[in-house]
Formats: sequence, C-alpha cells, structure tokens
Amino acid sequence: MESTNILAISGSLRSGSFNTAAIEAIHQLSPSNIEINIYRELGNIPLFNPDIDAKTLPVINRLIAALRDADGLIIASPEYAHGISGVMKNALDWLVAGEEFVAMPIALINTSPRAIHALASLREILTTMSGVIVDEACLSLPLLGSGMSANDIVHEPTFAEPLQNSLFEFCSAIQASQPGKYSGQNH
Ligand SMILES: Cc1cc2nc3c(=O)[nH]c(=O)nc-3n(C[C@H](O)[C@H](O)[C@H](O)COP(=O)(O)O)c2cc1C
Repeated sequence: MESTNILAISGSLRSGSFNTAAIEAIHQLSPSNIEINIYRELGNIPLFNPDIDAKTLPVINRLIAALRDADGLIIASPEYAHGISGVMKNALDWLVAGEEFVAMPIALINTSPRAIHALASLREILTTMSGVIVDEACLSLPLLGSGMSANDIVHEPTFAEPLQNSLFEFCSAIQASQPGKYSGQNH
C-alpha cells in the first residue's frame, strides 16, 4: 500500500512550544500508512541573503529534499507581534525562488485561536509561493497557556480527535490530488 509522506514544521524554537507539541502529537496519532517527517533544523538555517546561492548550503538542500519527498506539508507556527515567527519566515524566504511549493498541499495548525494576524499572513505567503492550503485540514486548537505536552494532547480526546480528523481530511485531499499514486486506496 502506498504511504503518504508528510513533512511537518513547527515555527517555534521554544523548548516547551505548543506548536511543536501539536506537531509531535500528530506524529504519534498518525496511522502506519502515513509517514510524518518532523523537520528539526529550522534554528540552523542562516539568515536569508539573496546574494548566497541556496544550493551551496547543505541545510537548505536537506530542506528542499524533504519537501520534494513530501506529498503534503503541515505547519504549526506562532504569532509574534501580529506577525509570523522570524525563523519560519526566514526558512520560507530561502524557498521562494524554488519550485518545491508549487501545488504543495498545506495544512495549517493554529495553537492559539486569538493569533489571527500571523495565520492570515502565513496563508498569504504560502499561496504567493503557489502552495495550496487545504481548508478542511486546517485546525485551530486552544493550546496556548495549557501547559500540555505532546503526550498530554494525544491522551486528551478534545484535542486528539480534531487532530486525527485534520490528518484524515488532509490525506483525503492529497489522495484526490494524486489519483494515479493512490488508486484503490482509502485511509
Ligand atoms: C515576543 C512575543 C510576542 C508575542 N506576540 C503575540 C501576538 O502578537 N499575538 C498572540 O496571539 N500571541 C503573541 N505571543 C504569544 C505566543 O504566540 C505564544 O506564547 C505561543 O505559545 C508561542 O508559540 P510556542 O508555544 O509554539 O512557542 C507573543 C509571544 C512572544 C514571546
């Protein structure tokens, strides 16, 4: 059976990050036919400089390879001063000139329902990069201030069930967009 490969990125470097916890919970909740590859190098990416050829940077080449392997992308990223996190924007800037985002299905997980500005900005950036936001798979979870870890989320049905539904909707949309790859398969 063909598996679905999903790259998942948290836009926070904070050790107790709710966005990272949500990503890790999705990883734990995913069935065996869905591969969730959690991207862990966001903090190692140099500051974007258009003078530098991205292909000379191993860390960028690894990110590009991970995106090429992915059938879809999940992003959970915080809001800082009504904007998206600097580390997230920095990574995206290195990728603007490439083709990796063209038609890439993307699900956005928002861990703070009040953080509407960063979410809107992230949508605008990603669609400008020709990504396709899968609305049915986007989810807002009130994790801010909850103190919850990935394990806590997995064992709390009011969070775990929406995350599983989001993943199901996301994979259904990915399969519908690649009928040749997944013919005869149902998640
Ligand atoms: C410098 C700073 C600025 C912030 N600005 C906002 C903001 O404008 N809107 C908001 O909803 N939350 C804001 N927050 C709260 C963060 O989004 C919140 O702490 C979030 O949980 C961070 O994500 P993380 O838990 O994944 O690290 C801010 C936090 C910091 C540290």
